[in-house]
Amino acid sequence: MPDVRIETATCVLRSPRSDDADGLVSIANDAAVARYVSPRFPYPYTRENAVEWLASLPSRPRTVSVVIELEGALCGVVTLELLAEERAGVAELHCWLSSRVWGRGIAADASRALTEYGFSHFDLRRVQAHVIAPNVNAMRVLEKAGFRREAVLAQSLVARDGSVHDDVLYFRLKPQAD
Ligand SMILES: CC(C)(COP(=O)(O)OP(=O)(O)OC[C@H]1O[C@@H](n2cnc3c(N)ncnc32)[C@H](O)[C@@H]1OP(=O)(O)O)[C@@H](O)C(=O)NCCC(=O)NCCS
Repeated sequence: MPDVRIETATCVLRSPRSDDADGLVSIANDAAVARYVSPRFPYPYTRENAVEWLASLPSRPRTVSVVIELEGALCGVVTLELLAEERAGVAELHCWLSSRVWGRGIAADASRALTEYGFSHFDLRRVQAHVIAPNVNAMRVLEKAGFRREAVLAQSLVARDGSVHDDVLYFRLKPQAD
């Protein structure tokens, strides 16, 4: 994946570097961050988890992950997973942010910017995001990033604490050229 650097109104998105491990641990090892993300996201989040994730990126060419920087400090990650085969042309968006900077519109800016980067750099028709029903802040992020609510998949997700919730699907289509 080529190096990415995108400046938005509130933050900078850039390709991860091997020296990002400590920065990742300092923001990801937080129960508030882990609460509504997939249980595949490790919690507690250790330095080994960060090193392993950073080392895995070169072998995952269909994963476009960038770190979010605020005034030079790492404060989150936003990812596009490019799907394949019968889902070719579709990508899934994921975003998480340090709880120290929630409520400043950063996730919405980062999500919008990476989605638009995806439309302009890959052969994508559609970007989608799955949100566990209690995560209303993530739904607001997606609405502010130009996504629309499309479907509710009843009782489709199990949260980290074992509770079962609806999966709310959001999508954004590539704008048609005139
Ligand atoms: C969900 C998440 C990405 C939102 O990031 P963010 O940068 O705080 O998002 P925004 O600043 O755009 O806020 C989105 C909404 O959250 C609410 N919100 C966020 N922080 C808040 C705070 N400190 N106090 C009150 N409301 C808050 C607001 O309703 C806001 O909408 P508004 O701008 O219309 O008022 C962030 O909370 C996060 O990383 N959570 C953990 C990981 C996660 O759940 N990721 C999403 C998986 S799908």
